[in-house]
Amino acid sequence: MKKLLAWPLAMIAVAALAGGCQPPEKTEAVRPVEIAKGEIDPAEWGKAFPIHYDMWKSTAEPTEPGKSKYKKGFDTDHITYDKLSEYPFMALLFNGWGFGVEYNEPRGHAYMLKDQVDIDPSRVGAGGVCLTCKTPYVPKLEAEMGRDYYAKPWDEVRHRIPEKHQELGVSCIDCHDSKDMSLKISREFTLGKALDVLGVDRSKLTHQEMRTLVCAQCHVTYSINKDENKKSVGVYFPWQGSSWGDISVENIIKQIREDKTNKEWVQKVTGYKMPFMRHAEFELYSRNSVHWMAGAACADCHMPYTKVGSAKVSDHRVMSPLKNDMKACQQCHTETPEWLRNQVIAIQDRTVSMMNRAGYATATVAKIIEKVHKLQEAGITIDKDLYEKAKDLYMEAFFRTLYIGGENSTGFHNPTEAMRILGDAVAFATKSESFLRQALTKAGQEVPTTIDLELSKYLDGRGKKKLNRQPGVEIKDPFGVQDKF
Ligand code: HEC
Ligand code: HEC
Ligand code: HEC
Ligand code: HEC
Repeated sequence: MKKLLAWPLAMIAVAALAGGCQPPEKTEAVRPVEIAKGEIDPAEWGKAFPIHYDMWKSTAEPTEPGKSKYKKGFDTDHITYDKLSEYPFMALLFNGWGFGVEYNEPRGHAYMLKDQVDIDPSRVGAGGVCLTCKTPYVPKLEAEMGRDYYAKPWDEVRHRIPEKHQELGVSCIDCHDSKDMSLKISREFTLGKALDVLGVDRSKLTHQEMRTLVCAQCHVTYSINKDENKKSVGVYFPWQGSSWGDISVENIIKQIREDKTNKEWVQKVTGYKMPFMRHAEFELYSRNSVHWMAGAACADCHMPYTKVGSAKVSDHRVMSPLKNDMKACQQCHTETPEWLRNQVIAIQDRTVSMMNRAGYATATVAKIIEKVHKLQEAGITIDKDLYEKAKDLYMEAFFRTLYIGGENSTGFHNPTEAMRILGDAVAFATKSESFLRQALTKAGQEVPTTIDLELSKYLDGRGKKKLNRQPGVEIKDPFGVQDKF
């Protein structure tokens, strides 16, 4: 009975949001302070909006451990969670460059640039381009330096930022126009261009869509273009062939595989030159997810309205809704926080189970390819046709696993799409393995039933490990299927 009553109410709340009938938030400055056009320093904005400034600063505070199952991020013990230890197949697959050395779970916005300063230097090897989603100075640096912005060493470009802001992360100017505090896209050279690729008419974007797009400046996948000398010369979002609300993993993979200029690394185990994919939160979320179709924006779940004193404001302590006791969800849902939390974790458990299967199946193929290459080096002929087919399928499996592995919600943003993509990854990897086994049998080679992945070699051989890192806490398949591999 309670449930029957609950839904109509929830639907009304959603309709109000989607229709933009939410009462307009007060944006008048608390103190009548003029914010200069182009002002980057958040402390200056804070003079007009002290409440927002304090909330924004609080992303530096550690979050309570235990509230989120998969996004422990940064807890009171100051532990940064390490994806490679959580998902060891990633250590094997990413071996060969920075992501295979150090790959952490995200934490508060206040740390985005600081974490880059602290991370293994191999992770910023691409140059200044790595600052693109880390500092509010980027649009200025890109405009001033042009090609040098991408190519010059990361630290050299960072040192062009005023000293006191060399660790400053996403700031007011990244999302707001100081004139009237409306939402604004500050990164024309990335998201602006990508919206053109999608064919989006910018003048028709709604307020609710902007509450997602300010986040999509960074929470997307991107490719880095290289010149003949492996210097970075550009960055773009691989949305070619896609449209608004329908950016598919298939189109992204097609684009990044076809692009000749974006091969950023060599996967050690296979020797393949590869592009890479990052945190595709916007792409996964906006592809027909239940919440996207219901008109919800990133800010609805990560910046819920909250009361500070007598003011009703958007929570600028951007974080996981689980760490905020599901308050964001309760703007629309009438279920209890426990019910909501259990739903999130159930979705994430299923995603992790499938992701582990896809990950280990892909890693198994990578190890067989390594074996094939060794045999070829020893002069043994391997059927070219079978090998090429297997290689193609391997790539398809690898990028699908990477897509969901890098996406930060562990499936919640679009549960059915995440499962579809991982299911395809398993199928592609399995098919690839069977082609390789055929090729090896044809060459008279024996292949063991179970392939030794040598995971400890990849996990332990990562070089200098930071002391504050999470010791190897492997996220086992929650349903125990992984043990059968
Ligand atoms: C300028 C780029 C940028 C923009 C814009 C941005 N983010 Fe982030 N976000 C990041 C980076 C980088 C991290 C990871 C920081 C780290 O781990 O040091 C992050 C982390 C997060 C986290 C994890 C926080 C935690 O406590 O672990 C959430 C949630 C998040 N962002 C949501 C959002 C939402 C919602 C928006 C839009 C309102 C947004 N972000 C806008 C770059 C950005
Ligand atoms: C319907 C609610 C909802 C919407 C809309 C939503 N998210 Fe999330 N998001 C979640 C939940 C739930 C999680 C999982 C948090 C956890 O496991 O602790 C999550 C996780 C994340 C994380 C990782 C958080 C962490 O602590 O590491 C990031 C980053 C993120 N979302 C960004 C976005 C962006 C960007 C958008 C819009 C494109 C978006 N989210 C839209 C609910 C939402
Ligand atoms: C990552 C993007 C992002 C950053 C950074 C950010 N904001 Fe916001 N801000 C938003 C969003 C989204 C809203 C909701 C706007 C809406 O719905 O109209 C908002 C709303 C506001 C509002 C309107 C009242 C409210 O609470 O809804 C004020 C004032 C504001 N922000 C001030 C600031 C100040 C000051 C800073 C820097 C200290 C800042 N913001 C940093 C995204 C951001
Ligand atoms: C803007 C309003 C809104 C917000 C905020 C919101 N939801 Fe929803 N949610 C909806 C609507 C509408 C549906 C679809 C209802 C239906 O079809 O029965 C839905 C469906 C769901 C479903 C079932 C659909 C599925 O994907 O299996 C779950 C679970 C859920 N929401 C959890 C959450 C959680 C957890 C949060 C907070 C992190 C949240 N929602 C935030 C509006 C919202």
